[in-house]
Amino acid sequence: MLKTTSEIDIVKAEKSKINEVDFDNIAFGNVFTDHMLVCDYKEGKWGKPIIKPYEPFMIDPSAKVFHYGQAIFEGMKAYRDENDGIWLFRPDQNLDRFNKSAVRMAMPEITEDIFIDGLKTIVELEKEWVKKGPGNTLYIRPFMIAIGSGVIAQPSTQYRFMIILSPARSYYSGEVKVIIAEHYSRAANGGIGAAKAAGNYSSQFYPQKLAQEKGFQQIIWTDDATHTKLEEAGTMNVFFRINDTICTAPVSERILDGVTRKSLIALAKREGIKVEERSVFVDELVQGAKDGSLKEIFGAGTAAVVSPIVGFQYKENYYELPKQENSIALQLKEMLTKIQYKQAEDTFGWTVKI
Ligand SMILES: Cc1ncc(COP(=O)(O)O)c(C=O)c1O
Repeated sequence: MLKTTSEIDIVKAEKSKINEVDFDNIAFGNVFTDHMLVCDYKEGKWGKPIIKPYEPFMIDPSAKVFHYGQAIFEGMKAYRDENDGIWLFRPDQNLDRFNKSAVRMAMPEITEDIFIDGLKTIVELEKEWVKKGPGNTLYIRPFMIAIGSGVIAQPSTQYRFMIILSPARSYYSGEVKVIIAEHYSRAANGGIGAAKAAGNYSSQFYPQKLAQEKGFQQIIWTDDATHTKLEEAGTMNVFFRINDTICTAPVSERILDGVTRKSLIALAKREGIKVEERSVFVDELVQGAKDGSLKEIFGAGTAAVVSPIVGFQYKENYYELPKQENSIALQLKEMLTKIQYKQAEDTFGWTVKI
């Protein structure tokens, strides 16, 4: 069946897979909904987006994405409220970051109507997949790849923008112990750390594997030049609570400008919690762990929202954090998720109805 809105063609799947999905036992990022959005770029412009059944597709083996890694993505979520309204959270921020990533990777920027209207149309079509209840979300993965052919190292002239959707339950990774990076780096000055580019993630896999072999779930990345400043935790921004102040590194060309990070900062400031956006040094962390002023460490990102860290390893020593009765991390997480699920007033105007 072909339906056409003014801007998007829709070819509906003959039969939904939704009844085959065990929503109570879903692993993050493994199950996809019935449809995907596809929009191709060629001859200097974007074509008409189409939403069609989710399926594999063919591209030339010499496509630049395979050889030169011209690929970017975003990660966001849709939420169902108590009255069955479906909501996005700050999609303008993801659009803005997507286009910054595109510019850095010499890829074309996407237009607001394709990105935002595309999101709204596909999420509306797949709304049965957005389940009610705490922690249930529909994870949204917009991405762009270079599909132009030719094994010559230059930017493609053809690209494909897509949106795929994956139902998700609340993300709990167990107790998270981290190791502070002393050698490997995820980003460098002048590099692509501030872009959500595919290569930023594959370059972490090997150091992550080494960390996991030593019993750590995540790496806290430090600055590449001196390995003295704490920058990100795995694929999350990272916060440190020192006494009653929360500190996090300022965004820079080495750090992803996280939507969760900026939202937690705004919430903390609204609540009168002291926030410092400044370089936090490894020495300070070790000292704080020794004298008890370091109360909490937590990662912040769309997938887990807030991920408390129980301890960290630096050089040969492991430092365990004290258990907190009044965790600021968990308070901020609750405030943020209540806004996302429309259980608390959205004083910032962050939520967008589908
Ligand atoms: C490297 C990195 N840092 C931080 C974040 C957090 O960003 P956001 O809060 O927008 O999900 C992400 C993504 O999820 C990331 O990949």
